[in-house]
Amino acid sequence: MARWATGVTVVTTRDAEVDAGLTVNAFLSVALEPPTVLVSLTLVADTTPLLERSRTFAVNLLAADQRAVSERFARTIPPAEKFQGLPVHRGATGAALLDGTLGNLECRVVDWLPRRDHVLIVAEVVREEVGRDAEPLLFYRAGYATSEGGGRLKLPPAPPR
Ligand SMILES: Cc1cc2nc3c(=O)[nH]c(=O)nc-3n(C[C@H](O)[C@H](O)[C@H](O)COP(=O)(O)O)c2cc1C
Repeated sequence: MARWATGVTVVTTRDAEVDAGLTVNAFLSVALEPPTVLVSLTLVADTTPLLERSRTFAVNLLAADQRAVSERFARTIPPAEKFQGLPVHRGATGAALLDGTLGNLECRVVDWLPRRDHVLIVAEVVREEVGRDAEPLLFYRAGYATSEGGGRLKLPPAPPR
């Protein structure tokens, strides 16, 4: 999987007035009509049971200059710490929509499919926002690609064989 390049998202949800979220790259488009997506979450993430209760979430598409946001949401720290000082706004579901992203999709859970140590969450998109037209944050070889400017990407170094 280290040889599979992906974008990076932060999946947020809000349950009983508590915001939670985690960094996710297991995200894909399932269908266009109706617009349907899938995210795969580990069952041990603190965010997963909150999302199971709220049945709604937002997928925030990170820009290349939001690497620190990705790193923050990939740590198991109290939800309040993840959102501290982070500008957000709200849409249709109540989930936090992070400012400065490439865009976001707000979703309502359609299928909750536990498989092995993850749950595959199929969800219908209920609202979307197009954000900045900026370079995406990319994940490859267990690291983040960085921009060299002029539209050129510098990939993480290859590990020693
Ligand atoms: C680039 C990247 C991608 C990740 N993708 C996923 C993913 O698709 N699904 C998942 O469950 N965790 C993924 N993680 C790990 C979670 O972000 C991490 O376990 C997080 O601490 C969970 O937070 P929580 O326990 O507070 O919910 C990813 C981490 C990184 C750095």
